[in-house]
Amino acid sequence: MKPACSYAATHAASLADPAAFWLSQAAHLHWHTPPAEALAQDANGFYRWFGGGQLNTCYLCLDHHVQHGRATQPALIYDSPVTHTQRTYPYAELLDLTARFAGGLREIGVGLGDRVIIYMPNVPEALIAMLACARLGAVHSVVFGGFAPHELAVRIDDAQPRAIVCASGGLEFDRIILYKPLVDEALAKARHQPAHVVVFQRDFAPADLQPGRDLDYQTLLRAAPVPAVPVPATHPLYILYTSGTTGRPKGVVREHGGHAVALRFSMEAIYDVAPGEVMFAGSDIGWAVGSSYIVYGPLLRGCTTVLFEGKPVRTPDAGTFWRLIEQHQIRVMFTAPTAIRAIKKEDPEGLLARKYDLSSLRHLFLAGERCDPATYDWAQQLLGVPIIDHWWQTESGWPMLATPMGLEGRPAPRAGSAGHPVPGYDVQILDEAGQPVPAGTTGLVAVRLPLPPGCLPTLWHDDARFREAYLAPYPGYYLSGDGGYRDPEGYTYIMGRVDDVINVAGHRLSTGEIEEILAGHPAVAECAVLGIADDLRGQLPVGVVVLKDGQTIGEEALEQELVAAVRARIGALACFRQALVVKRLPKTRSGKILRKTLRQIADGEQFTLPSTIDDPVILDEIRAGMQRRSIGSAFQPPEPI
Ligand code: COA
Ligand code: AMP
Repeated sequence: MKPACSYAATHAASLADPAAFWLSQAAHLHWHTPPAEALAQDANGFYRWFGGGQLNTCYLCLDHHVQHGRATQPALIYDSPVTHTQRTYPYAELLDLTARFAGGLREIGVGLGDRVIIYMPNVPEALIAMLACARLGAVHSVVFGGFAPHELAVRIDDAQPRAIVCASGGLEFDRIILYKPLVDEALAKARHQPAHVVVFQRDFAPADLQPGRDLDYQTLLRAAPVPAVPVPATHPLYILYTSGTTGRPKGVVREHGGHAVALRFSMEAIYDVAPGEVMFAGSDIGWAVGSSYIVYGPLLRGCTTVLFEGKPVRTPDAGTFWRLIEQHQIRVMFTAPTAIRAIKKEDPEGLLARKYDLSSLRHLFLAGERCDPATYDWAQQLLGVPIIDHWWQTESGWPMLATPMGLEGRPAPRAGSAGHPVPGYDVQILDEAGQPVPAGTTGLVAVRLPLPPGCLPTLWHDDARFREAYLAPYPGYYLSGDGGYRDPEGYTYIMGRVDDVINVAGHRLSTGEIEEILAGHPAVAECAVLGIADDLRGQLPVGVVVLKDGQTIGEEALEQELVAAVRARIGALACFRQALVVKRLPKTRSGKILRKTLRQIADGEQFTLPSTIDDPVILDEIRAGMQRRSIGSAFQPPEPI
């Protein structure tokens, strides 16, 4: 065992002297100007990494590798069963396309610090657009293609982009989703108007272009290539919006320097992928997992990344991921437990996996939601490699708890646990008063400051919200919003959110935002939205609504209208499908809706009748209503204890 690379020694060194630890990690990258100092606090008191340093993330991802012998090595393998396309892009070709697209963006006025929204499915052109923005020092914001025009408009108004790059369409299984009309609709709703919309035309979905404003993606590619612009380490690389507890999403900011240093480190220490090896993250470029481990992580490390346009099932079958492993010799794979549950549902015996040679696979990482032990065990038995559940958030951009597979002496992964703190993270479980709790006690999961490089330094143009949401509740800590506990052996278990955020198929949604939509219906007096347990997607949102006096709309008609409203405002990805009409909502005597009790009723959990409830009888009525409407996955009416 090499002590310098043992998990315990590395973690201890990262906390004992974070500045020294991360400066030594930064030295693995090419800096145009090396950082003068590792860590400083800005005027807000927020921590900033590598001040004075200058670098460019696109340069590190592409130019550096081309100059160091990887020109002909595949950088990107695009595998799209929905369009029956496969294409490999060597590093030199990806660099050429990116440099030319960056030239095209510059010709339409995109420069240092300008924002560019990217609204595209998993296609190489999206990845090229992201890297091209990075090359210019422009700030990209990828918006997941499943979001409806309203959500896109909210992000346009917040980010105020100079340009939007979109695809004309995408394919959901065999259904065509026309993206360009969604962009047009979003722009009709948005106050801010970008100068240009750049459209990547797909042959199955040709889009009309508005003269003057809209441009063909291919036109920009005809520009002369431009070099990478060195930017300060603290210059923003991208904004990624994520759900908060209200309808207004949070713009998580990622900076060039800390992000590059952290992701390169994670590829080595956590994922254990060597340069030249193949990594596949089965996610979407619109999520943090996609940005970090489809795009930047593998390219920073000189690996080959697999960009998959399809689903784990029905494109064409539940063996798709296993085919990818064999065909592309994937060493490390990353996906959400939902994807494994979807595969298990369609192929419970794992027969399709036996059709393929999976011997290249070294480990499977899972994140996005807690991996339930049944899914963990199934994957373990099927694949016969270590399965690593690891915990992170859009805010961190890379794992906070994991089993670091590149470090010696790491504790073995264990079903149900997200593992141990990653080097750089001092993860603590706190009680409501902000004091660390003993092992075995559930509490609030927090990280002692400073956060390591790569984590959000603030929210886009909203320092106050950053402070209020994450730092103010417990001074000296970053509050994650998750609850969990640590066992006596040091394994940490993340058990779910303690706020109004839910996780549907690994997608983070705000119940508060859905409540705002339901409350906007003319017949609804008040409502509560719960995230109830679901076998496939982990959680599903369900509405419990009270009608205004005198309203006579039937329950089913109202449900249909509410479902349509959520689909139109947030998008189909919300999976909002059920609403129950009740006479009253259960509340405390001070008027607080007992959402947790409602969820426990739906999930068939035992619960303690809150002593402050104003009218306990209402719970029996709601339970009966849920039974009548088959709301709740494994519904077994509980007795209050
Ligand atoms: N564009 C447009 N619509 C989209 C979309 C996109 N990019 N992604 C999803 N949708 C739509 C779907 O078509 C579906 O619409 P419908 O209600 O009209 O059928 C709806 O949003 C719900 O999507 P989803 O929950 O993904 O359901 P699904 O049946 O399409 O697929 C899974 C189910 C489990 C296969 C899928 O959720 C999956 O692969 N999950 C993996 C999770 C993941 O990658 N998480 C990212 C974080 S790691
Ligand atoms: P997102 O920002 O969309 O990546 O979602 C982050 C949230 O997903 C976290 O706050 C957790 O609630 C949940 N999450 C992510 N990974 C895990 C995990 N391994 N175990 C439990 N919850 C997780």
